[in-house]
Amino acid sequence: MNDDHAGFMADVITGLSATPKRLPPKYFYDAAGSALFLDITRLDEYYVTRTELAILQTHASDIASHIPAGSALVEFGSGASTKIRTLLNALPQLAAYVPVDISTELLAQEAAELSRDFPGLPIYPIAVDFTTDFRLPSTLENHPKAGFFPGSTIGNFEPREAQHFLACAAHTLGAGAIFIVGVDLEKSPETLHAAYNDAVGITARFNLNMLTRMQRELGATLDPHGFRHHAFYNEIERRIEMHLVANGAQTIRVNGNAFEFANGESIHTENSYKYTQARFADLARSAGWDIEASWTDSQQHMSIQALRCRRGESMSERPDHAKLHPPPD
Ligand code: AVJ
Repeated sequence: MNDDHAGFMADVITGLSATPKRLPPKYFYDAAGSALFLDITRLDEYYVTRTELAILQTHASDIASHIPAGSALVEFGSGASTKIRTLLNALPQLAAYVPVDISTELLAQEAAELSRDFPGLPIYPIAVDFTTDFRLPSTLENHPKAGFFPGSTIGNFEPREAQHFLACAAHTLGAGAIFIVGVDLEKSPETLHAAYNDAVGITARFNLNMLTRMQRELGATLDPHGFRHHAFYNEIERRIEMHLVANGAQTIRVNGNAFEFANGESIHTENSYKYTQARFADLARSAGWDIEASWTDSQQHMSIQALRCRRGESMSERPDHAKLHPPPD
């Protein structure tokens, strides 16, 4: 078992020992899961990715006008290469691009591809968990800073974790910085339900891949057909919840442990929070950011927010925890 597997093992033991049982959604994204997620982004029902890209394309120059010439652009979590390219094309005067991702491999790949297509652009990859309070290279000290966090990944965090993440980003980017964030909006429960319960069952496979990944990487013993995909909109918490529900009594054995499931008992694998413009503005403000602008589509399904880091109060104090652990309940 390598280091990655050790972290996965520890989180599986912790999550399956908890009541109710849970697993962190970051473990969806092995090679198989990332391929399934790409398929999700192309589903008719899954409006998120396509709508965000359309907003970005329609308003690229307007969004870019909030990012001054000579800025360093910091992307939180790499991989969404179409989106960053759309933004980079609108920013010819950028001083540097700083992709931040836990995966060294993904970073190297993205940097290689981007330096081919943007030959004059200095790239400074940082291999770190982007939810921590990390530091930028000191060579970028005197450049204006801009952050980019697309995809509504912020919806995977509990609101209090999202607040902490935004406070860390404020500390990393600094007072006066701009932060471009993709935020999924509240909408009809029917539209949300369909987006996470697609007719061809790709989202179900994406969710169930967490179990086959446990078999592949951790040598877990379980019946993958003994669980079913369940996703629903929790209107009180304003989030989509994804679960893996046991069909009859089930046992998952891993590393000498046996985790028992009663019929209908579930593993909570993901929350995807939806915001109104007003509630997101409150959240951002509480973490040291003001909304400078925002863009949406004609149906107001998805939004891109431009946040400005307040000068003054928040910059002296560091966020209190070094690290976030998305997404537990
Ligand atoms: C990548 C977290 C934005 O919450 O919509 C898609 C992940 N889960 N279908 C989302 C996801 C099920 C996605 N995010």
